[in-house]
Amino acid sequence: MILSPSILAGDFTKLGETIDMINKSEADWIHLDVMDGVFVPNISFGFPVIKNIASIAKKPLDAHLMIVDPDRYIGKLHEMGVEYVSVHYEACNHLHRTLQNIQSMGMKAGVALNPHTPASNLEYILEYSDFILVMSVNPGFGGQSFIDNSLRKISEIKEMAIKKGLNTLVEVDGGVNLKNSVLLKDAGTDIIVVGSTITSSANPIDTISKLKAI
Ligand code: DX5
Ligand code: ZN
Repeated sequence: MILSPSILAGDFTKLGETIDMINKSEADWIHLDVMDGVFVPNISFGFPVIKNIASIAKKPLDAHLMIVDPDRYIGKLHEMGVEYVSVHYEACNHLHRTLQNIQSMGMKAGVALNPHTPASNLEYILEYSDFILVMSVNPGFGGQSFIDNSLRKISEIKEMAIKKGLNTLVEVDGGVNLKNSVLLKDAGTDIIVVGSTITSSANPIDTISKLKAI
């Protein structure tokens, strides 16, 4: 599976060291959690921080926008070199247009689903999505416990994609650890986002290797 470490649970006074660590590790992407305090009950970081990260990151940037009206910022993310952008199904009134906007700039567009949003809501949008981000916790905070029925949702999305002849990637975000990663792989997950399991481990580089070995 592709591994996209989330920096959210890391120490922001040592952000450069965290990015260096990810650069040197076997991780594939860097996951950036952008929160606006409106769509989710928390505020994380914004564009000046992303710009600094982009200047030292050696891996593709994967921006997860937990914000209302994300279209306002898509051009800015593109300018900063972000390659993957996911927007929430629940935050977009014109989701199809938003995905097209992301793709028109050459970036890959993902649809993020909150835990309560069923896979069946993707029926008319899956073919326009490069990837689906299944939230396995309620978005807003790192360090929460994995919601088990996310596994069923992943299988349902993979099945729907196969039926439609698509090879849409499924990314899973929230409460991912060394144990449930095995189940996530079996369910068909293509990309795992891992925050606190990496940042709170004694040896993050080694934890990344272990996750990549699954
Ligand atoms: C939650 C974020 C996640 C979070 C994952 O709103 O979208 O990316 O940082 O952190 P862990 O792995 O600690 O659940
Ligand atoms: Zn995220």
